[in-house]
Amino acid sequence: MSVLNGQRLVMGTCYYPEHWPETLWKEDLQRMLDTGIEVIRIAEFAWSKVEPVEGTYTFDFFDRFLDLAEEVGMKVIFCTPTATPPAWLTEKYPEVLNADIKGNLFRHGMRRHYNYNSPIYRNFCAQITEKFAAHYAGRKCIIGWQIDNELNCEEDFFYSESDTKAFRVFLEKKYVTLDRLNEAWGTVFWNQTYTDWEEIFVPRYTYRDSVNPHQVLDYIRLISESARSFAKLQSDIIRIYTKPGDFITTNGLFKHLDNHQMTRESLDFYTYDSYPDFGYCLDMYEENPSALRDRKWSRNLSEVRAISPVFGIMEQQSGACGWNTRLEAPTPRPGQITLWTIQSIAHGADFISYFRWRTCTMGTEMYWHGILDYSGRENRRIREIKQIHKLMDAVSEVAGGIYEAQVGVLKDYDNIWDVEIDNWHQRVDSVSQNALFSAAQKSHTPLDYVYFTDSLKGEDLKKYKVLFYPHATIVNEERVKLLSEYVKEGGILVIGCRSGYKDMTGKCVMDRLPGLLAPLTGTDIPEYSLISPDAGKVMVDWEGTLFEASVFTDLLEPAGEDAQSKAVYASDYYAGTCALVCNSYGKGQAWYYGSAFSEEAAEVFLRKLGVASPYKDLVEAPKECEIAVRCKNGQKYLFLLNYSKEPVQVTFHRDGTDLYTGEKTVGSKKLDGYGTMVVKIS
Ligand code: GAL
Repeated sequence: MSVLNGQRLVMGTCYYPEHWPETLWKEDLQRMLDTGIEVIRIAEFAWSKVEPVEGTYTFDFFDRFLDLAEEVGMKVIFCTPTATPPAWLTEKYPEVLNADIKGNLFRHGMRRHYNYNSPIYRNFCAQITEKFAAHYAGRKCIIGWQIDNELNCEEDFFYSESDTKAFRVFLEKKYVTLDRLNEAWGTVFWNQTYTDWEEIFVPRYTYRDSVNPHQVLDYIRLISESARSFAKLQSDIIRIYTKPGDFITTNGLFKHLDNHQMTRESLDFYTYDSYPDFGYCLDMYEENPSALRDRKWSRNLSEVRAISPVFGIMEQQSGACGWNTRLEAPTPRPGQITLWTIQSIAHGADFISYFRWRTCTMGTEMYWHGILDYSGRENRRIREIKQIHKLMDAVSEVAGGIYEAQVGVLKDYDNIWDVEIDNWHQRVDSVSQNALFSAAQKSHTPLDYVYFTDSLKGEDLKKYKVLFYPHATIVNEERVKLLSEYVKEGGILVIGCRSGYKDMTGKCVMDRLPGLLAPLTGTDIPEYSLISPDAGKVMVDWEGTLFEASVFTDLLEPAGEDAQSKAVYASDYYAGTCALVCNSYGKGQAWYYGSAFSEEAAEVFLRKLGVASPYKDLVEAPKECEIAVRCKNGQKYLFLLNYSKEPVQVTFHRDGTDLYTGEKTVGSKKLDGYGTMVVKIS
């Protein structure tokens, strides 16, 4: 493939020929090439340029553009335009539109206002995809395809009539009989029993929107399946026409979508849209001035890596954020575009495409700046990007390298979606996920997210010394089996509170908690509670190390002869009660911690379990810096990223080569504010 070739890093940008006079095209393409940009992404919102009225196709607009691209030697990622249906389509066929929970249709004037399940829309999309692919895919300059744009962005709930129809089909396939559905959804509660499939709807407007949680869980599963099948519909068509070596991808990372399965079914690899400047959005900044800000994008990038270990960035921030009504953020400061680009590369991106070449002079995204401002004049940002191109060339040998982590955080879509439905789960999960990420970042402990997918094997878990599964609320036997094998073979598994209390329908189990996880964790939970405001600060004492419990307390008892209490709650009416059990199981250990993980707690776990700061023998850096390592054929590449605006000192304990300068790295070095370094370890 031309962009993830395992040989070198590639730079691109997003271009909208339809936004600019044709007289600018050639100059723009030439300037891009001079900047180091060799790939552009086009056409994702340009349906009407090809089908201006129903059934009439005019290909000449993009033909003229592609002729020019070929003339100057620019490579192109072509998109299907299905994120923005034309006005003629939505007016004539309003059933293609998405709706809110009260059934009000989302009308023309924005984007992504369609639903995935309307047979009419699917037909139109299949047709336009076929037309695009049949006509353009043979072009020499085209190297790959993007499906739609950011599936589930803007709106990730769907309440149209087509969605209800699709829901009924989905449910009938899943449960076969209404009795089984009623059982799975616990409809006996509040007299919700269904007697006909036609009585079932996607969630509708109810008192406090508190629709049956088991119904909502299945409904989110439907949304995911609908988005996936929409992607597959397009991918199957595109594949008929692509030239050998051309790829299919889609961009963004949004909710209610099993991105892993979508990638397996329909894509060659995943691309992400990375906007770390959101961390500086004015409203968010005021809410939480001490947050990790742009550094948090490393968490999103780690999520992307869990889908495609090596991936692309289809939209990398190159200017200020801002719609005309929201999301205002400042222009990246000198050095920040470089920092955010290297951040992406550190986590596994081999293709970096900047959003967007020119800033749009019209529409909702007038403030969403690209590389160039409205006038297109040479500016500081394009100068920085030219420099970045040189850096990318200098570090190009990292391409294909795999991010190294000894610690994994286990995830699965059932629990991710349950978090949205179950407040207790939500509270503990949001605290723990933030804390684990922050503690790992600050202690320079790289971590991966590891998903329970159909293709996950015991082998995939083995490479992690420690796995956290912070709140495995929903579990099934298969997952417990994989976890047990991992521990039996010597792995260390850490599970937090509220685990094992639900089955796959989201209903609570009647077992002793933690349910199916009891034998593996050697834990019994006779009692549990949210931390009461009357309790004050609840401390945990782990053999003399004190830290605060968060949100919830499961009161534990070790069960079985291999289980030991390792920590106790040190306050409130349960002072002295076990807060942490360690169960020796096979060659490994399963730990059950009775609370959510505060940052302090997460840091203690990483340290006590011996996995914090794995690179301290190579380099020491202050907390402001992220450390990441990509490894290729046994060669390690160390990334240092300074997110603070102040310079910091880093100290190397092993020889290496600074790939930007070719100089040896020994002893102490200064890293500028927002500075980065990529070191080839000797
Ligand atoms: C992305 C989207 C782009 C553009 C950009 C800036 O989410 O894919 O089309 O909208 O954000 O808002």
